[in-house]
Amino acid sequence: MLNVDKQNDTFLYRQVIELITENMDTGTLLPGDRLPSLRKMSRTAGVSIPTVRQAYVELERRRRVESRPQSGFYVRHQAANDIVRPTRTATLKPVPLRCRSLMERVYDGINNPDLVPLGIANPSMAKPAAKTLHRIMKRVMARAEERSLGYASTLGEPALRRQIAYHYLDTIGVQVEPDEICITNGGQEALLLALTAVASKGDVIAVETPTYHGMLELIDSLGMLAVEVETCPEEGVVTSVLERTFDKYPVKACMFSTTLGNPLGVTMPDVDRERLVGLLEKYDVALIEDDVYGDLRFDGQRSVPAQFLGSKARILTCGSFSKTAASGYRIGWVVTRNYIDEVARLKRAFSCSSGLLQQLTLAEFMASGDFARHLKSLTPVLQRNSERMLALVAEHFPSETRTSRPVGGSVLWLELPKKVNAEQLFDDAIGAGISISPGHIFSPCACYKNFMRLSFGHPWDEKTETAIQWLGHQVCKRAST
Ligand SMILES: Cc1ncc(COP(=O)(O)O)c(C=O)c1O
Repeated sequence: MLNVDKQNDTFLYRQVIELITENMDTGTLLPGDRLPSLRKMSRTAGVSIPTVRQAYVELERRRRVESRPQSGFYVRHQAANDIVRPTRTATLKPVPLRCRSLMERVYDGINNPDLVPLGIANPSMAKPAAKTLHRIMKRVMARAEERSLGYASTLGEPALRRQIAYHYLDTIGVQVEPDEICITNGGQEALLLALTAVASKGDVIAVETPTYHGMLELIDSLGMLAVEVETCPEEGVVTSVLERTFDKYPVKACMFSTTLGNPLGVTMPDVDRERLVGLLEKYDVALIEDDVYGDLRFDGQRSVPAQFLGSKARILTCGSFSKTAASGYRIGWVVTRNYIDEVARLKRAFSCSSGLLQQLTLAEFMASGDFARHLKSLTPVLQRNSERMLALVAEHFPSETRTSRPVGGSVLWLELPKKVNAEQLFDDAIGAGISISPGHIFSPCACYKNFMRLSFGHPWDEKTETAIQWLGHQVCKRAST
């Protein structure tokens, strides 16, 4: 049943993955079936045992199979529709943003507390850390009363920078100097500082497609142009297409999420991350690495940001506490070895420094171990919510609907039948008390017209379930007229 082609340039483990998924798609391997043992598969496919292991681990990461201790790997029960496919195969042109007014309407929906919040990607709300943070903030105010009302230094509170550096060491074994970190007003300012440190007006910036609309607004408001690069829901940016884009356009920088991108929820496997870094070096293009979801992988692991892979590529990594602890604190950071002086200069020029009280509170939240405990209890809630959402979509949406398979974070990306216009669905959903994010806003040319993003990052309740059922009913109705 299985054989790989050693002359083919595709990695052998990827060929093993393809062979297995083909067998799953055609029904030869069904949910609950055990995959051949590593040894057996290695003999049948004519590849080494480590290659088979790599393929099985990757299939587990994609949630197509699960490993059972002392027993082997089994095909998972998929309570969901087919996986969404990349929409692009050709290199696109750099373009300005076309959907500003829709973005504004989406933000109005997001900010309306009376709506069921399926439009806002706010994972920290799924299990708020509010009580602990309030307690710590009171303590900080009592102890550092006057100081906490003053300015923080430009790079930010040393205690917080030290904790962030320690977090990298503790979770991925990477040594970052606190002086290579600049605290910012959320992840959005981190992206702004990083982008302005490496590019200026008129430059071309490569982005994933689909991508986070906040990046598109930023690129547009700085007078830059975005060029989209095909992004695969399982492997992230397609590096062969990226190379063609570099050959064709004078790309100054890339803005990519290597871990849990928004909206696809994709995490680049290590080989692709390394290929990406190799291309950045070869073409001398800078990378602004959006890592704001980095701590929210469902399996509790943290991927190593591309910046720390030991290459000479120019990379600035952006993080934030908005997705893990408190979006209202507006605290994020940039890590950069090469550009810290430039980032500090820009920080001073744009916003002087970030709120000290919030920084002191977060520093203590991390130092006490509360942050790590909070992450440990937040990610299983997000995983459960994602499974519930996938199951409801499978039950209530038309069977042609395709979805992403998030391996972390808080959003699900859906491709609806072609006839369904997500902007009209958005308007009707707002009328019915539900916010969603229509696909249009995730591309500068507003091309994802029959796509939408739903968030599972809020406490799950009956209203959430009713809202998903209502959306499914609307999509079925529109698809059949
Ligand atoms: C991918 C991505 N990057 C950056 C941000 C901005 O983060 P912050 O809210 O910390 O400014 C967001 C917020 O939604 C996001 O989804």
